[in-house]
Amino acid sequence: MASHKLLVDIHTHVYLPRYAAFLRSRTSVPRIFSRTSPQGKLEDRLLILDNEPSGGRPIGAQYWDREEKLKFMDKHGIDVSIVSSANPWLDFLPASTAHKLAGELNDDLETFCATSPSLTTTLKRLYGFGLLPLVPEITVTSLLETVEQISQLPHLKGIIMGTRGVGKGLDDAALDPVWKAISEAGLVVFLHPHYGVDGKAWGEKSNGHVLPLALGFPFETTIATTRLILSGVFDRHPDLRVLLAHSGGALPQLSSRLASCIDHDPEVASRLAHDARYYMSKLYFDAVAYGSEELGFVSDVIGRAEAFSARASSAAASKNVGTNKRKIGSRRMVFGTDHPFFPPLSETEKWKSVVENLEAIDGVDGWEEAEKDARNETFLHAADTIRG
Ligand code: URA
Ligand code: ZN
Repeated sequence: MASHKLLVDIHTHVYLPRYAAFLRSRTSVPRIFSRTSPQGKLEDRLLILDNEPSGGRPIGAQYWDREEKLKFMDKHGIDVSIVSSANPWLDFLPASTAHKLAGELNDDLETFCATSPSLTTTLKRLYGFGLLPLVPEITVTSLLETVEQISQLPHLKGIIMGTRGVGKGLDDAALDPVWKAISEAGLVVFLHPHYGVDGKAWGEKSNGHVLPLALGFPFETTIATTRLILSGVFDRHPDLRVLLAHSGGALPQLSSRLASCIDHDPEVASRLAHDARYYMSKLYFDAVAYGSEELGFVSDVIGRAEAFSARASSAAASKNVGTNKRKIGSRRMVFGTDHPFFPPLSETEKWKSVVENLEAIDGVDGWEEAEKDARNETFLHAADTIRG
C-alpha cells in the first residue's frame, strides 16, 4: 500500500476501441465520423445527441487510448481511475446486439484494467464500471446473466447506467430482480445522464451545449433518482449502492420539498418506510460540482439525512447531528473528473475542469484535512469500491 493518500477518480469515461469502431460503422446518431475542418484538416467528430448541431463535437485518442488516460492521470496526480463507458452506452441497440456487445465490452474493459500498470502490489491504476444491455425487449435473464458476468470480472467494481432502464425508467418493477442481483453482488451503480430534458425548454436562441449539459443532464439525474426513491427500491434493497453523477443534480436542493410533497399526497404518503430526506444517506454523490459552496451544501444534506432514519425522527432529530453533519456527509462524496469531456479550449498544463474540482474540495468550509482527503483514500468510498 502506498504511504500517501490515494487520489481516486470515480467519474472518468472511455469509448473502448470496439465501441468506437462500432460508432464509426454507423450512419445515424450516435456515431463517429470524419470531416475536413474549416482549416482544411481531417478531424474526427462525435455525434451522440439527437438535437446536437450536426457537426457534433471533436473527438480524439483521449476517448479510447489507455495511454492517454494514464497520461491525463499522471498530469493531475490521479493514482487510480474507475473507468466507465461514456453515454449513450447500448441504449440505441436491439436487444440481441446489446446483450452480445455488453458481454464483449465488459470483457474488453476487464482486460483494459487488468493489464494496466500496477500502483502497488495489490492495486492497479485502472478499475472499471461495466455495462448492462438495458434496452427494451431484453429479458431479465439476459440482464441477470450480465450482472453475473460483471461480478466475476475482478477489475469491474460496478455498473454504469443511464436513466431509461428497459424503456420505462428505473422505477419499472421489471427491474427489481436486477437491483436485487446488483445489491447481492456488492456492485455499485453509477447513475449517469444522457438525454437531458425536453429540448423545447431551451428556447430558440443558440447557447451551444451549455443548457443541455449544465441543466438538462443534472435534471435528468434528479428525476430518475427521485422516481427510484418513490418506487421504494431503497426500502426493498437497503444495501444497494447508487452513485449519482454531477453531485446528484438538483436532488439535494429539492429533497425537503420532495419530502413535503410526499407528506401531502395521500397516494404516496404511506408508500415509503422513511422521510424522503433519509434516502440522501443511501446515495453516493460525486464531487463534480465545480464549487466549494455546492460541495459543502450537498454534504450538509447527506449528513442531515442520517437523522431521518425513521419517519418519526424528523426535524428535531436532525439537530442532534449538529455541526458534524457536513463531515458525516462528506464521507459519501467522491472525487471525479468527467474526463475526457470538458477539455480545455486552448493548450494548458492542467485541465481547468479538474483543477476547479480539486480546489473546490480544498475550499469547503468545515471540511478539515480528513474530509479534504476527499480526493483520496480515506474520503473516497471509491477505495471501498476498488477493494470490495
Ligand atoms: N458530455 C457527455 O456527453 N457526457 C459526459 O459525461 C459529459 C459531457
Ligand atoms: Zn460523465
